[in-house]
Amino acid sequence: MSPSTSHSPTARSHTGKPVALVTGAAKRLGLAIAQALAESGHDIALHYRQSHDEAEQAAQQLRAAGAQVALLRADLTDEAAVQALLPAAVEQLGAVDVLVNNASSFDYDSPDSFGWACFTQLMQANCAAPVALAQALHRHLQARGPAAQGCVVNLLDQKLWNPNPDYFSYTLSKAALESATTLLAMSMAPQLRVCGVAPGVTLVSGPMDEAEFERAHRLTPLQRSSTPQDIARTVRFLVESPAITGTTVLVDGGQHLSGQARDVLFLARDMAPAPRTGPAPSPPHLGNAP
Ligand SMILES: NC(=O)c1ccc[n+]([C@@H]2O[C@H](COP(=O)([O-])OP(=O)(O)OC[C@H]3O[C@@H](n4cnc5c(N)ncnc54)[C@H](OP(=O)(O)O)[C@@H]3O)[C@@H](O)[C@H]2O)c1
Repeated sequence: MSPSTSHSPTARSHTGKPVALVTGAAKRLGLAIAQALAESGHDIALHYRQSHDEAEQAAQQLRAAGAQVALLRADLTDEAAVQALLPAAVEQLGAVDVLVNNASSFDYDSPDSFGWACFTQLMQANCAAPVALAQALHRHLQARGPAAQGCVVNLLDQKLWNPNPDYFSYTLSKAALESATTLLAMSMAPQLRVCGVAPGVTLVSGPMDEAEFERAHRLTPLQRSSTPQDIARTVRFLVESPAITGTTVLVDGGQHLSGQARDVLFLARDMAPAPRTGPAPSPPHLGNAP
């Protein structure tokens, strides 16, 4: 299949197909994104940290869909490991054209419990590593020549447009990455486009249970938030859209319009269960939620 992407004709992976490096792609949203990009004709550099068995299973699925796959392990709080990631992908697959900064640490703190250790770890994994990987991709494209072009998609969060102090350091790390999306788009054009996708509540995360997850979806204007497929489709759209850079698409059922004073986890906990008489909204696909 000939991929309908916006990549350089000089892109020369080992198979001749464009290559996407997707971080945190062993399961959940990262796997859905890797599957969508494999279906659109990309080979996949699949990054993971701890989820080795899931990464092996994911690689089998992607290979069955026709993609060449390289499995790459790295802790994104380790600068040397981050610096080695893109060169390892190039060595195994021949080139990299697309970077999806999906991996993210998600630890709870608040302005009261704020501490340097949590903040530093979240800023490293959620902002410094994505920026360093974008920098590495830009240098790789420059080395391939002026015609080489690529795309970065940063996974953000609708809560940047619907702020509350819960998950304080996580929010700061995503706010920094959102600013980096603008700044990198300015500085890395014309060879590298840099975009964002901001999901709403998409998979059960942190301490949320499935009843709270279902209630959280009913709190959105559209009474449904995003599914992994909604997010993956939007990432693919941005990868295939050569005129888009420096902007973020919110994929959240309108959650960012809600003005939620606390994280949706706590709002869903305080909410009465759905009445049994009315039709309940269909629960979204739960992916590989732990
Ligand atoms: N899920 C949602 O509802 C939602 C809502 C809003 C925004 N988002 C954003 O969408 C993206 C994907 O969400 P998700 O829920 O699928 O993510 P997730 O499951 O919380 O994390 C994805 C992967 O990130 C990797 N990771 C975490 N810390 C790492 C580190 N220090 N070094 C290397 N890898 C690390 C983990 O890989 P291993 O398992 O291999 O260790 C994990 O599987 C994230 O950027 C998230 O912030 C998600």
